[in-house]
Amino acid sequence: MLEIENLSMYYDTAKKPVKAIQNVSLKLDQGEILGLVGESGCGKSAMLLTIMRLIPYPGKIKYGQIKLDGENILTKPGREMRRLRGQKISMIFQDPMTTLNPVFKVGEQVRESLRIHEMVASNSSIPFLDGARKRKEMEMVLKLMQEVGIPSEESRYHEFPHQYSGGMQQRALIALALSCRPDLLLADEPTTALDVTIQAQIMALLKQINQERGTGIILVTHDLALAAEFCHRIAVMYAGEIVEMGKTQDVIENPQHPYTDGLLHSIPKITTQKQKLLPIMGTVPDLADLPEGCSFYPRCSQAHDKCLCAVDIVELLEGHQVRCAIYQ
Ligand SMILES: Nc1ncnc2c1ncn2[C@@H]1O[C@H](COP(=O)(O)OP(=O)(O)OP(=O)(O)O)[C@@H](O)[C@H]1O
Ligand SMILES: [Mg+2]
Repeated sequence: MLEIENLSMYYDTAKKPVKAIQNVSLKLDQGEILGLVGESGCGKSAMLLTIMRLIPYPGKIKYGQIKLDGENILTKPGREMRRLRGQKISMIFQDPMTTLNPVFKVGEQVRESLRIHEMVASNSSIPFLDGARKRKEMEMVLKLMQEVGIPSEESRYHEFPHQYSGGMQQRALIALALSCRPDLLLADEPTTALDVTIQAQIMALLKQINQERGTGIILVTHDLALAAEFCHRIAVMYAGEIVEMGKTQDVIENPQHPYTDGLLHSIPKITTQKQKLLPIMGTVPDLADLPEGCSFYPRCSQAHDKCLCAVDIVELLEGHQVRCAIYQ
């Protein structure tokens, strides 16, 4: 369904370009859930915003293609792109409180999204809103709110975002994203601000949407354990590049890149004896000032001279790709 080839997107800032995405190639089949994991500042949100073609200023696509059902969406005019957003691709943004408009009732925001996308889809002007039409639209919104698990939807429809709890706001965002039944859902850290119980409920909801509607999902998270539980495949991102990608089981049980290995060792385990955690030392480099060769080299426990040369991503086993000088 989605095919990204050699995609690079830089923020052209006044000083140096910030290389937020570099040479990323990936595929997503219909009904598949891909987890995109990595530390803060690795370019995960940049990746999703680029797929939506909602790149914030001064971001620019440098090379590459993004194909949706075989068509390159990077060459599509703005109006066509608006039609695709909502109908084919939809996004749950990272922060519910800044995505929802604080001065409009939540139900009305979902209704507006439905109307605008219907208008764009049918290539018509805003339909005249008589009582019957408004009631019909409201019914659709209430059904959607019920589907995403917002309780007492009739009264919740008329509430403002600040009257919702964090989990409820997240559900409202999911309702917004699902309002036009997209084929592909991009979820940017949909559970980061939530406690584990609500996190489990939201993830179960996404899984249900995936299974019942066959919606493909790209789930961005910094939580490898969460990705391991819900995703069919995992792509590990570091400094704008995909460093390892493969089936969840392969990546988790048999990590080939020292960065993935480091991430896995940073997760506390409650089943084993008391053990010191082994964090990855240092931080993600400045994406405007990346080191020569492999970007992970300065933090890598297995670094050697070869790492200073450019490193390509290679397929080690079937469907398991790694970008590391050890395998060049
Ligand atoms: N408008 C902008 N102008 C310049 N640089 C930007 C802009 N937006 C983001 N960046 C930079 O792009 C890089 C990638 O940011 P991005 O938001 O994609 O990270 P992320 O992986 O989503 O992190 P997090 O887990 O914290 O959400 C960061 O170095 C960030 O500072
Ligand atoms: Mg982000």
